[in-house]
Amino acid sequence: MSFDLVLFGGTGDLAWRKLMPALFQAFRHGTLPAGGRIIGVARDDLSDAQYRTLIQARFDEVDLAKRPSPDEFARFAELLHFLRMDLSRPQDYDRLAGLLHERGADTVVMYLATAPALFTVACEQLAAAGLNGPNVRLVLEKPLGHDLASNRAINQSVRAVLSEKQIFRIDHYLGKPAVQNLFAMRFGNALFEPLWRRENVANIQITIAEELGVEKRGAFYDSTGALRDMVQNHALQLLCAIGMEPPINAHADAIRDEKLKVLRSLKPWTPTTLDQHVVRGQYAAGNVNGAAAPGYRDEPGVAADSTTETFVALRAEIANWRWAGVPFYIRTGKRLAARDAHIVVNFRPAPHAIFSAPPGSVNRLVINLQPRDGLQLHLLAQGQENRRNGQALAPVQLDLDFDKRFGSERVGAYERLLLDVIDGRLNLFVRSDEQEEAWRWVEPIMEHWRADARGPRPYASGTWGPSASSAMIARDGYCWSEEC
Ligand code: BG6
Repeated sequence: MSFDLVLFGGTGDLAWRKLMPALFQAFRHGTLPAGGRIIGVARDDLSDAQYRTLIQARFDEVDLAKRPSPDEFARFAELLHFLRMDLSRPQDYDRLAGLLHERGADTVVMYLATAPALFTVACEQLAAAGLNGPNVRLVLEKPLGHDLASNRAINQSVRAVLSEKQIFRIDHYLGKPAVQNLFAMRFGNALFEPLWRRENVANIQITIAEELGVEKRGAFYDSTGALRDMVQNHALQLLCAIGMEPPINAHADAIRDEKLKVLRSLKPWTPTTLDQHVVRGQYAAGNVNGAAAPGYRDEPGVAADSTTETFVALRAEIANWRWAGVPFYIRTGKRLAARDAHIVVNFRPAPHAIFSAPPGSVNRLVINLQPRDGLQLHLLAQGQENRRNGQALAPVQLDLDFDKRFGSERVGAYERLLLDVIDGRLNLFVRSDEQEEAWRWVEPIMEHWRADARGPRPYASGTWGPSASSAMIARDGYCWSEEC
Protein backbone atom coordinates (compact mmCIF):
# COMPACT_ATOMS: atom_id res chain seq x y z
CA MET A 1 0.00 0.00 0.00
CA SER A 2 1.49 3.36 -0.98
CA PHE A 3 0.92 6.47 1.11
CA ASP A 4 1.69 10.17 1.11
CA LEU A 5 1.79 11.85 4.51
CA VAL A 6 1.55 15.62 4.28
CA LEU A 7 2.75 17.26 7.44
CA PHE A 8 1.43 20.81 7.78
CA GLY A 9 3.60 22.56 10.34
CA GLY A 10 6.48 20.48 8.99
CA THR A 11 9.19 22.62 10.61
CA GLY A 12 7.28 23.15 13.87
CA ASP A 13 7.98 21.91 17.35
CA LEU A 14 5.65 18.92 17.23
CA ALA A 15 7.01 17.79 13.87
CA TRP A 16 10.61 17.52 14.93
CA ARG A 17 10.09 16.61 18.59
CA LYS A 18 7.43 13.91 18.22
CA LEU A 19 6.25 13.15 14.70
CA MET A 20 9.52 12.73 12.81
CA PRO A 21 11.08 10.60 15.55
CA ALA A 22 7.91 8.46 15.62
CA LEU A 23 7.98 8.02 11.83
CA PHE A 24 11.66 7.20 12.03
CA GLN A 25 11.02 4.54 14.68
CA ALA A 26 8.29 2.99 12.52
CA PHE A 27 10.74 3.01 9.60
CA ARG A 28 13.40 1.39 11.78
CA HIS A 29 10.96 -1.23 13.06
CA GLY A 30 9.94 -2.01 9.48
CA THR A 31 6.29 -1.17 10.18
CA LEU A 32 6.06 1.93 7.98
CA PRO A 33 4.65 0.69 4.67
CA ALA A 34 7.33 0.74 1.99
CA GLY A 35 7.08 3.26 -0.81
CA GLY A 36 5.67 6.14 1.21
CA ARG A 37 6.45 9.85 1.07
CA ILE A 38 6.51 12.24 4.00
CA ILE A 39 5.99 15.76 2.73
CA GLY A 40 6.79 18.53 5.20
CA VAL A 41 4.83 21.70 4.52
CA ALA A 42 5.66 25.13 5.94
CA ARG A 43 6.25 28.72 4.87
CA ASP A 44 10.03 28.33 4.99
CA ASP A 45 11.98 28.31 1.76
CA LEU A 46 13.68 24.91 1.82
CA SER A 47 14.71 22.33 -0.72
CA ASP A 48 14.18 18.61 0.00
CA ALA A 49 17.89 18.33 0.80
CA GLN A 50 17.78 21.26 3.23
CA TYR A 51 14.70 19.84 4.93
CA ARG A 52 16.44 16.49 5.39
CA THR A 53 19.47 18.21 6.90
CA LEU A 54 17.24 20.21 9.24
CA ILE A 55 15.44 17.11 10.49
CA GLN A 56 18.73 15.27 10.92
CA ALA A 57 20.15 18.12 13.01
CA ARG A 58 17.04 18.15 15.18
CA PHE A 59 17.25 14.40 15.76
CA ASP A 60 20.27 15.09 17.97
CA GLU A 61 18.00 16.89 20.41
CA VAL A 62 15.26 14.28 20.74
CA ASP A 63 14.86 11.22 22.84
CA LEU A 64 15.48 8.25 20.56
CA ALA A 65 16.18 4.83 22.01
CA LYS A 66 19.18 4.49 19.71
CA ARG A 67 20.75 7.19 17.51
CA PRO A 68 20.48 6.48 13.79
CA SER A 69 23.75 5.90 11.97
CA PRO A 70 24.33 8.30 9.03
CA ASP A 71 23.53 5.46 6.69
CA GLU A 72 20.29 4.59 8.46
CA PHE A 73 19.21 8.23 8.50
CA ALA A 74 20.03 8.58 4.80
CA ARG A 75 17.69 5.68 3.98
CA PHE A 76 14.91 7.26 6.07
CA ALA A 77 15.61 10.68 4.54
CA GLU A 78 14.75 9.36 1.08
CA LEU A 79 11.11 9.46 2.22
CA LEU A 80 11.31 13.15 3.20
CA HIS A 81 10.23 15.95 0.89
CA PHE A 82 9.40 19.58 1.42
CA LEU A 83 6.80 21.91 -0.06
CA ARG A 84 6.67 25.60 0.67
CA MET A 85 3.10 26.69 1.30
CA ASP A 86 1.18 29.62 2.66
CA LEU A 87 -2.01 28.08 3.97
CA SER A 88 -4.07 31.13 3.08
CA ARG A 89 -3.16 31.01 -0.65
CA PRO A 90 -5.40 28.82 -2.85
CA GLN A 91 -2.67 28.48 -5.53
CA ASP A 92 -0.44 26.75 -3.00
CA TYR A 93 -3.04 23.99 -2.51
CA ASP A 94 -3.09 23.50 -6.28
CA ARG A 95 0.66 22.95 -6.18
CA LEU A 96 0.15 20.41 -3.42
CA ALA A 97 -2.56 18.71 -5.49
CA GLY A 98 -0.13 18.56 -8.44
CA LEU A 99 2.54 16.94 -6.28
CA LEU A 100 0.10 14.38 -4.91
CA HIS A 101 -1.57 13.57 -8.24
CA GLU A 102 1.72 12.93 -9.99
CA ARG A 103 2.03 9.87 -7.77
CA GLY A 104 -1.57 8.87 -6.96
CA ALA A 105 -0.87 7.13 -3.63
CA ASP A 106 -3.48 4.71 -2.21
CA THR A 107 -3.75 6.74 0.98
CA VAL A 108 -3.11 10.42 1.56
CA VAL A 109 -2.78 11.58 5.16
CA MET A 110 -3.08 15.31 5.85
CA TYR A 111 -1.66 16.01 9.31
CA LEU A 112 -2.56 19.46 10.61
CA ALA A 113 0.14 20.09 13.22
CA THR A 114 -0.60 23.81 13.01
CA ALA A 115 -2.36 26.44 15.08
CA PRO A 116 -6.06 25.49 15.32
CA ALA A 117 -6.98 28.88 13.88
CA LEU A 118 -5.80 27.47 10.52
CA PHE A 119 -7.90 24.26 10.64
CA THR A 120 -11.00 25.73 9.02
CA VAL A 121 -9.23 27.54 6.19
CA ALA A 122 -6.99 24.55 5.49
CA CYS A 123 -10.00 22.21 5.22
CA GLU A 124 -11.87 24.56 2.91
CA GLN A 125 -8.88 25.00 0.67
CA LEU A 126 -8.04 21.29 0.58
CA ALA A 127 -11.59 20.60 -0.59
CA ALA A 128 -11.45 23.42 -3.14
CA ALA A 129 -8.30 21.84 -4.60
CA GLY A 130 -10.09 18.46 -4.77
CA LEU A 131 -7.99 17.03 -1.93
CA ASN A 132 -10.87 15.51 0.02
CA GLY A 133 -11.43 12.31 -1.94
CA PRO A 134 -12.18 8.98 -0.21
CA ASN A 135 -8.46 8.11 0.05
CA VAL A 136 -7.77 11.21 2.19
CA ARG A 137 -7.43 11.02 6.00
CA LEU A 138 -7.16 14.15 8.07
CA VAL A 139 -5.35 14.26 11.41
CA LEU A 140 -6.15 17.08 13.82
CA GLU A 141 -3.92 17.88 16.74
CA LYS A 142 -5.31 19.25 19.97
CA PRO A 143 -6.34 21.79 21.11
CA LEU A 144 -9.47 21.58 18.98
CA GLY A 145 -10.88 24.94 19.97
CA HIS A 146 -10.81 26.68 23.32
CA ASP A 147 -14.44 26.06 24.34
CA LEU A 148 -17.53 24.20 23.20
CA ALA A 149 -18.57 26.77 20.58
CA SER A 150 -15.15 26.98 18.89
CA ASN A 151 -14.79 23.19 19.02
CA ARG A 152 -18.15 22.78 17.30
CA ALA A 153 -17.24 25.34 14.67
CA ILE A 154 -14.05 23.44 13.79
CA ASN A 155 -15.85 20.11 13.72
CA GLN A 156 -18.54 21.52 11.47
CA SER A 157 -16.12 22.95 8.96
CA VAL A 158 -14.13 19.71 8.87
CA ARG A 159 -17.22 17.55 8.50
CA ALA A 160 -18.47 19.76 5.69
CA VAL A 161 -15.65 18.41 3.51
CA LEU A 162 -14.85 14.98 4.95
CA SER A 163 -16.82 12.15 6.52
CA GLU A 164 -16.33 11.30 10.20
CA LYS A 165 -14.44 8.11 9.33
CA GLN A 166 -11.82 10.20 7.52
CA ILE A 167 -11.17 12.40 10.58
CA PHE A 168 -8.54 11.36 13.12
CA ARG A 169 -8.56 13.56 16.24
CA ILE A 170 -5.40 12.80 18.16
CA ASP A 171 -5.18 12.43 21.91
CA HIS A 172 -1.70 11.01 22.25
CA TYR A 173 -2.49 9.60 25.70
CA LEU A 174 -4.66 6.99 23.98
CA GLY A 175 -1.58 5.83 22.08
CA LYS A 176 0.46 5.22 25.23
CA PRO A 177 1.17 1.50 25.75
CA ALA A 178 -0.07 1.76 29.34
CA VAL A 179 -3.48 2.97 28.20
CA GLN A 180 -3.79 0.10 25.76
CA ASN A 181 -2.78 -2.18 28.59
CA LEU A 182 -5.58 -0.75 30.64
CA PHE A 183 -8.07 -1.79 27.97
CA ALA A 184 -6.36 -5.20 27.75
CA MET A 185 -6.42 -5.63 31.52
CA ARG A 186 -10.06 -4.64 31.87
CA PHE A 187 -11.55 -6.33 28.83
CA GLY A 188 -9.14 -9.22 28.21
CA ASN A 189 -9.36 -10.69 31.73
CA ALA A 190 -12.37 -11.85 33.69
CA LEU A 191 -10.65 -11.18 37.01
CA PHE A 192 -11.14 -7.46 37.51
CA GLU A 193 -14.57 -6.86 36.03
CA PRO A 194 -16.64 -8.14 38.99
CA LEU A 195 -14.64 -5.91 41.34
CA TRP A 196 -14.85 -2.87 39.10
CA ARG A 197 -17.84 -1.13 40.67
CA ARG A 198 -19.12 0.94 43.52
CA GLU A 199 -19.65 -2.04 45.84
CA ASN A 200 -15.89 -2.71 45.90
CA VAL A 201 -14.17 0.52 44.90
CA ALA A 202 -13.76 3.33 47.42
CA ASN A 203 -12.25 5.93 45.07
CA ILE A 204 -10.18 6.31 41.92
CA GLN A 205 -7.33 8.76 41.44
CA ILE A 206 -5.88 9.93 38.14
CA THR A 207 -2.60 11.84 38.36
CA ILE A 208 -0.67 13.33 35.46
CA ALA A 209 2.25 15.17 37.04
CA GLU A 210 4.99 16.87 35.05
CA GLU A 211 8.33 18.22 36.20
CA LEU A 212 8.63 20.46 33.16
CA GLY A 213 7.32 24.01 33.17
CA VAL A 214 5.88 25.68 30.09
CA GLU A 215 9.26 25.57 28.30
CA LYS A 216 9.15 27.61 25.08
CA ARG A 217 5.36 27.59 24.87
CA GLY A 218 4.70 30.39 27.38
CA ALA A 219 2.49 32.51 25.12
CA PHE A 220 0.41 29.56 23.92
CA TYR A 221 0.08 28.12 27.40
CA ASP A 222 -0.87 31.41 28.97
CA SER A 223 -4.00 31.56 26.83
CA THR A 224 -4.73 27.87 27.42
CA GLY A 225 -4.04 26.66 30.97
CA ALA A 226 -4.04 23.17 32.47
CA LEU A 227 -7.79 22.63 32.30
CA ARG A 228 -7.88 23.00 28.51
CA ASP A 229 -4.40 21.57 27.92
CA MET A 230 -4.69 18.38 30.00
CA VAL A 231 -8.05 17.87 31.72
CA GLN A 232 -10.50 18.37 28.84
CA ASN A 233 -8.66 15.75 26.80
CA HIS A 234 -5.99 13.48 28.31
CA ALA A 235 -7.35 13.20 31.86
CA LEU A 236 -10.96 12.74 30.77
CA GLN A 237 -9.93 10.11 28.24
CA LEU A 238 -8.20 8.22 31.05
CA LEU A 239 -11.31 8.58 33.17
CA CYS A 240 -13.34 7.10 30.30
CA ALA A 241 -10.93 4.19 29.89
CA ILE A 242 -11.18 3.35 33.57
CA GLY A 243 -14.90 3.98 33.99
CA MET A 244 -16.50 2.77 30.75
CA GLU A 245 -18.66 -0.31 30.36
CA PRO A 246 -17.18 -3.21 28.37
CA PRO A 247 -17.75 -2.41 24.68
CA ILE A 248 -19.61 -5.02 22.60
CA ASN A 249 -16.55 -5.48 20.38
CA ALA A 250 -13.21 -3.81 19.71
CA HIS A 251 -14.40 -1.64 16.81
CA ALA A 252 -13.86 2.09 16.97
CA ASP A 253 -17.47 3.11 17.37
CA ALA A 254 -18.24 0.44 19.97
CA ILE A 255 -15.41 1.82 22.11
CA ARG A 256 -16.27 5.44 21.43
CA ASP A 257 -19.97 4.89 22.22
CA GLU A 258 -19.01 3.62 25.68
CA LYS A 259 -16.60 6.48 26.34
CA LEU A 260 -19.30 8.93 25.30
CA LYS A 261 -21.71 7.42 27.85
CA VAL A 262 -19.19 8.05 30.61
CA LEU A 263 -18.78 11.68 29.59
CA ARG A 264 -22.53 12.10 29.44
CA SER A 265 -22.86 10.60 32.92
CA LEU A 266 -20.45 13.01 34.59
CA LYS A 267 -22.32 14.70 37.38
CA PRO A 268 -23.06 18.32 36.42
CA TRP A 269 -21.41 21.04 38.46
CA THR A 270 -23.28 23.09 41.06
CA PRO A 271 -22.09 26.35 42.69
CA THR A 272 -21.11 24.31 45.77
CA THR A 273 -19.16 21.62 43.93
CA LEU A 274 -17.45 24.23 41.76
CA ASP A 275 -16.30 25.90 44.93
CA GLN A 276 -15.33 22.82 46.92
CA HIS A 277 -14.38 20.19 44.35
CA VAL A 278 -12.06 22.12 42.06
CA VAL A 279 -8.64 23.53 42.95
CA ARG A 280 -6.59 25.66 40.60
CA GLY A 281 -2.97 26.46 41.18
CA GLN A 282 -0.08 28.28 39.56
CA TYR A 283 3.57 27.45 40.13
CA ALA A 284 5.80 29.88 41.96
CA ALA A 285 9.59 29.70 42.06
CA GLY A 286 11.02 26.61 43.70
CA ASN A 287 13.31 23.68 43.25
CA VAL A 288 12.77 20.82 40.83
CA ASN A 289 15.17 17.90 41.04
CA GLY A 290 17.77 19.98 42.85
CA ALA A 291 17.69 22.83 40.29
CA ALA A 292 16.17 26.25 40.94
CA ALA A 293 13.07 26.84 38.81
CA PRO A 294 11.47 30.23 38.09
CA GLY A 295 7.86 31.05 38.87
CA TYR A 296 5.28 30.78 36.09
CA ARG A 297 4.83 34.55 35.83
CA ASP A 298 8.55 34.92 35.14
CA GLU A 299 8.48 32.53 32.19
CA PRO A 300 9.03 34.06 28.73
CA GLY A 301 5.74 34.82 26.98
CA VAL A 302 3.70 34.77 30.19
CA ALA A 303 1.92 37.90 31.46
CA ALA A 304 3.37 39.26 34.70
CA ASP A 305 -0.10 39.26 36.30
CA SER A 306 -1.28 36.04 34.66
CA THR A 307 -4.09 34.10 36.35
CA THR A 308 -3.66 31.07 34.10
CA GLU A 309 -3.69 27.81 36.03
CA THR A 310 -0.77 25.39 35.75
CA PHE A 311 -2.37 22.92 38.16
CA VAL A 312 -5.87 21.50 38.52
CA ALA A 313 -7.24 19.02 41.03
CA LEU A 314 -10.89 18.08 40.95
CA ARG A 315 -13.41 15.57 42.17
CA ALA A 316 -15.75 14.09 39.58
CA GLU A 317 -18.54 11.55 39.83
CA ILE A 318 -19.94 9.26 37.19
CA ALA A 319 -23.66 9.17 37.88
CA ASN A 320 -24.64 5.67 36.77
CA TRP A 321 -25.40 2.31 38.38
CA ARG A 322 -21.81 1.13 38.34
CA TRP A 323 -20.18 4.19 39.86
CA ALA A 324 -22.76 6.28 41.75
CA GLY A 325 -21.12 7.85 44.81
CA VAL A 326 -17.53 6.82 43.96
CA PRO A 327 -15.25 9.88 43.76
CA PHE A 328 -12.92 10.09 40.77
CA TYR A 329 -10.13 12.51 41.62
CA ILE A 330 -8.17 14.07 38.79
CA ARG A 331 -4.94 15.97 39.33
CA THR A 332 -2.52 17.40 36.81
CA GLY A 333 0.10 20.10 36.87
CA LYS A 334 3.41 21.43 35.70
CA ARG A 335 6.55 21.79 37.82
CA LEU A 336 5.39 19.18 40.29
CA ALA A 337 7.57 16.96 42.44
CA ALA A 338 8.04 14.24 39.82
CA ARG A 339 7.20 13.22 36.28
CA ASP A 340 4.64 10.65 37.19
CA ALA A 341 1.39 9.63 35.52
CA HIS A 342 -0.64 6.91 37.17
CA ILE A 343 -4.13 5.76 38.03
CA VAL A 344 -4.94 4.34 41.45
CA VAL A 345 -7.98 2.20 42.14
CA ASN A 346 -8.48 2.10 45.90
CA PHE A 347 -10.65 -0.83 46.93
CA ARG A 348 -12.83 -0.85 49.99
CA PRO A 349 -11.30 -2.40 53.12
CA ALA A 350 -12.18 -5.92 54.26
CA PRO A 351 -15.62 -5.81 55.88
CA HIS A 352 -14.44 -7.33 59.15
CA ALA A 353 -10.87 -7.31 60.50
CA ILE A 354 -9.79 -10.47 62.32
CA PHE A 355 -6.03 -9.76 62.07
CA SER A 356 -4.15 -6.77 63.24
CA ALA A 357 -3.23 -4.65 60.23
CA PRO A 358 -1.34 -1.37 59.87
CA PRO A 359 -3.78 1.53 59.79
CA GLY A 360 -4.85 2.85 56.43
CA SER A 361 -3.72 -0.18 54.45
CA VAL A 362 -6.09 -1.04 51.64
CA ASN A 363 -6.09 -3.15 48.54
CA ARG A 364 -5.00 -0.90 45.77
CA LEU A 365 -4.32 -1.34 42.07
CA VAL A 366 -1.86 1.14 40.60
CA ILE A 367 -1.66 1.49 36.84
CA ASN A 368 1.59 3.29 36.03
CA LEU A 369 1.70 5.21 32.75
CA GLN A 370 5.05 6.94 33.11
CA PRO A 371 7.93 7.12 33.62
CA ARG A 372 7.53 3.32 33.89
CA ASP A 373 4.69 1.39 32.35
CA GLY A 374 3.38 -1.24 34.73
CA LEU A 375 0.89 -2.52 37.26
CA GLN A 376 1.13 -2.90 41.01
CA LEU A 377 -1.36 -4.70 43.17
CA HIS A 378 -1.08 -3.79 46.85
CA LEU A 379 -2.16 -6.56 49.20
CA LEU A 380 -1.81 -7.52 52.83
CA ALA A 381 0.20 -10.62 53.74
CA GLN A 382 1.58 -12.22 56.87
CA GLY A 383 4.51 -10.02 57.89
CA GLN A 384 7.79 -11.60 58.95
CA GLU A 385 9.31 -8.68 60.84
CA ASN A 386 7.90 -9.38 64.29
CA ARG A 387 8.20 -13.07 65.11
CA ARG A 388 6.36 -12.83 68.43
CA ASN A 389 3.37 -10.90 67.19
CA GLY A 390 1.09 -13.75 66.13
CA GLN A 391 -0.80 -13.06 62.93
CA ALA A 392 0.23 -9.51 61.95
CA LEU A 393 -0.37 -8.31 58.45
CA ALA A 394 2.06 -6.26 56.42
CA PRO A 395 1.63 -4.54 53.05
CA VAL A 396 3.18 -6.29 50.03
CA GLN A 397 3.01 -5.66 46.30
CA LEU A 398 2.67 -7.69 43.15
CA ASP A 399 4.73 -5.68 40.72
CA LEU A 400 4.60 -6.00 36.95
CA ASP A 401 6.96 -3.88 34.86
CA PHE A 402 5.81 -3.97 31.23
CA ASP A 403 9.00 -2.33 29.96
CA LYS A 404 11.01 -5.19 31.48
CA ARG A 405 8.52 -7.80 30.41
CA PHE A 406 8.13 -6.68 26.80
CA GLY A 407 11.42 -4.85 26.24
CA SER A 408 12.09 -1.16 26.55
CA GLU A 409 11.81 -0.33 22.84
CA ARG A 410 8.02 -0.56 22.80
CA VAL A 411 5.88 1.15 20.19
CA GLY A 412 5.62 4.78 21.32
CA ALA A 413 2.34 6.74 21.40
CA TYR A 414 2.86 8.78 18.22
CA GLU A 415 4.37 5.84 16.37
CA ARG A 416 1.33 3.73 17.13
CA LEU A 417 -1.13 6.51 16.26
CA LEU A 418 0.56 7.44 12.98
CA LEU A 419 0.55 3.83 11.85
CA ASP A 420 -3.13 3.59 12.81
CA VAL A 421 -3.92 6.61 10.62
CA ILE A 422 -2.05 5.13 7.67
CA ASP A 423 -3.89 1.84 8.18
CA GLY A 424 -7.24 3.59 8.75
CA ARG A 425 -7.85 2.34 12.32
CA LEU A 426 -9.92 4.80 14.35
CA ASN A 427 -10.08 2.97 17.71
CA LEU A 428 -7.59 5.24 19.45
CA PHE A 429 -8.95 8.51 18.08
CA VAL A 430 -11.59 10.75 19.56
CA ARG A 431 -15.00 11.28 17.96
CA SER A 432 -16.47 14.78 17.75
CA ASP A 433 -19.33 14.01 20.15
CA GLU A 434 -16.86 12.86 22.83
CA GLN A 435 -14.95 16.08 22.48
CA GLU A 436 -18.07 18.17 22.68
CA GLU A 437 -19.28 16.39 25.84
CA ALA A 438 -15.87 16.95 27.45
CA TRP A 439 -16.01 20.66 26.62
CA ARG A 440 -19.57 20.87 27.90
CA TRP A 441 -18.44 19.44 31.24
CA VAL A 442 -15.37 21.68 31.72
CA GLU A 443 -17.02 24.91 30.58
CA PRO A 444 -18.75 25.70 33.91
CA ILE A 445 -15.32 25.48 35.57
CA MET A 446 -13.93 28.01 33.11
CA GLU A 447 -16.89 30.32 33.74
CA HIS A 448 -16.60 29.94 37.50
CA TRP A 449 -12.91 30.87 37.40
CA ARG A 450 -13.54 33.85 35.17
CA ALA A 451 -15.90 35.25 37.80
CA ASP A 452 -13.69 34.36 40.75
CA ALA A 453 -11.28 37.19 41.55
CA ARG A 454 -9.25 35.03 43.95
CA GLY A 455 -7.24 33.58 41.05
CA PRO A 456 -5.13 30.42 41.21
CA ARG A 457 -3.41 29.35 44.42
CA PRO A 458 0.38 29.60 44.22
CA TYR A 459 2.44 26.46 44.88
CA ALA A 460 6.19 26.12 45.07
CA SER A 461 7.73 24.40 42.06
CA GLY A 462 8.82 20.88 42.96
CA THR A 463 5.86 20.15 45.26
CA TRP A 464 2.58 18.31 44.67
CA GLY A 465 0.58 21.50 44.14
CA PRO A 466 -1.37 23.74 46.51
CA SER A 467 -2.32 22.28 49.89
CA ALA A 468 -5.97 22.84 48.97
CA SER A 469 -5.63 19.80 46.71
CA SER A 470 -4.90 17.55 49.71
CA ALA A 471 -7.60 19.30 51.72
CA MET A 472 -10.15 18.60 48.99
CA ILE A 473 -9.55 14.87 49.03
CA ALA A 474 -9.15 14.77 52.84
CA ARG A 475 -12.71 16.07 53.23
CA ASP A 476 -13.85 12.68 51.88
CA GLY A 477 -11.54 10.89 54.34
CA TYR A 478 -8.99 9.95 51.61
CA CYS A 479 -5.53 11.10 50.58
CA TRP A 480 -3.44 11.19 47.41
CA SER A 481 -1.39 8.05 46.86
CA GLU A 482 1.96 9.64 47.84
CA GLU A 483 0.46 10.85 51.11
CA CYS A 484 -0.74 7.52 52.49
C1 BG6 B 1 0.46 17.79 25.72
C2 BG6 B 1 0.36 19.10 26.45
O1 BG6 B 1 -0.78 17.45 25.14
O2 BG6 B 1 0.84 16.78 26.64
C3 BG6 B 1 1.68 19.44 27.12
O3 BG6 B 1 0.01 20.12 25.52
C4 BG6 B 1 2.12 18.31 28.01
O4 BG6 B 1 1.55 20.64 27.89
C5 BG6 B 1 2.10 16.99 27.25
O5 BG6 B 1 3.43 18.60 28.45
C6 BG6 B 1 2.36 15.82 28.18
O6 BG6 B 1 2.54 14.67 27.41
P1 BG6 B 1 3.48 13.48 27.94
O7 BG6 B 1 3.29 12.42 26.91
O8 BG6 B 1 4.87 14.04 28.00
O9 BG6 B 1 2.95 13.12 29.29
